Amino acid sequence: MSTVVVIGSQWGDEGKGKIVDLLTEYAHIVVRFQGGNNAGHTLVVNGDKFIFHLIPSGILYEDKLCLIGNGVVLDPAVLLEEIDKLAQSGRQITPDRLKISEMTHIIMPYHRLLDHAREAAKSGTKKIGTTGRGIGPCYEDKMARTGIRAVDFLNASLLKEKIQEALKEKNALFKHFGVDIMNAGDVYSEYMNYADRLAPYITDITAILHQAQRNGENILCEGAQGTLLDIDHGTYPYVTSSNTVAGAACTGAGIGPTRIDYVLGICKAYTTRVGGGPFPTELFDEVGDIIQKNGHEFGATTGRRRRCGWLDAVALKNSVYTNGIDGLAITKLDVLSGLETVKICNEYQYNGQRYHSIPKSMEKLTAIQPLYKNLAGWTEDLTTIRSYEDLPPKTRQYLKEIEDLAETPLAIISVGPGREQTLLLRNPFESAKK
Ligand code: IMP
Repeated sequence: MSTVVVIGSQWGDEGKGKIVDLLTEYAHIVVRFQGGNNAGHTLVVNGDKFIFHLIPSGILYEDKLCLIGNGVVLDPAVLLEEIDKLAQSGRQITPDRLKISEMTHIIMPYHRLLDHAREAAKSGTKKIGTTGRGIGPCYEDKMARTGIRAVDFLNASLLKEKIQEALKEKNALFKHFGVDIMNAGDVYSEYMNYADRLAPYITDITAILHQAQRNGENILCEGAQGTLLDIDHGTYPYVTSSNTVAGAACTGAGIGPTRIDYVLGICKAYTTRVGGGPFPTELFDEVGDIIQKNGHEFGATTGRRRRCGWLDAVALKNSVYTNGIDGLAITKLDVLSGLETVKICNEYQYNGQRYHSIPKSMEKLTAIQPLYKNLAGWTEDLTTIRSYEDLPPKTRQYLKEIEDLAETPLAIISVGPGREQTLLLRNPFESAKK
């Protein structure tokens, strides 16, 4: 039995959904442990495209159990919409296949409104560029100990009381921001409908995970966003409001650190970022446009154009340490085909000084110069290649460079969105330490 954690090593959108989908074949259980419907996982299976924001991507396998952990913030309307959409495509999602932790915090309409109002009140470069889904305000309430949890869906009078209490404070804030206040009764009625439908899914998922580990089952922990968006370790304040690093699998699902066997870091062959904040290797030239176009780099949640740049190995190495990455999955390698030169940033320079780790001051991070290692590009189409040995020598050189700079072995290489467009060099479930 093994427990494998999959996390993003950059600013999210590394292609975790596809890799999780692939590894689900070897798992009994897939659990999401942080984030909410700010994430968007795009999967292409037998030519059909699916975008999930909340449901673990493992749901496409009928014999797998999918869990939503306590570290997630859950918008019930979005979850129900995903359940309904899957039903329309002939996939019935029942409570024996999908379970929600009683401790998962619920995104309320006042969280979304506050997210928008706060962002609208910020100007220019101060804007975080949030997805506007209410993620930050929901985590704020969790920390303030005023949040509404899934378990509260099972107690109507408590739910009503909590909504009334929350709105006393939130409505004062809405007046401050000059937006319409909310009516507790309306919110309660809407949420009781969700509560009725979701109640059968709500249970103690930590107990299920502990039992599964005792039974020797394989567990896959599915992260959302990426390390550089982590509330502690990311490019604060241009981050999301949860811990996105591998350690969050422990707190966000209730698994002890000694029970994690392998951490797989997902790394796109280049870098992208949506929203505001520093991005040292960002490209503003034609090459950036080519990568954006060939990589179809638009956000799965908001449809925003993703900012594109070269692979940043300084940031990647930082991710390797922070997450304890055991192996890397390099995704979207095919997108770089046709570029004369490919570059990897291996150092930063600021005021004549060299840096090998990410400066924590945002002023410095915005001002640093990335220094690059230039490598020869390749022209071959990679999308039909199915083995490492068949990759062009220059592509292998690029991969070797990443492996050396990150000091981490490659486990998986992805050369297209389909399940079959994957080179599995090491199976994380089989390479697990124990
Ligand atoms: P929030 O998580 O909606 O509060 O947004 C905070 C920042 O994280 C913004 O820059 C978003 O664009 C970014 N972000 C949140 N979720 C994702 C994701 O799944 N992929 C990439 N960026 C994300």
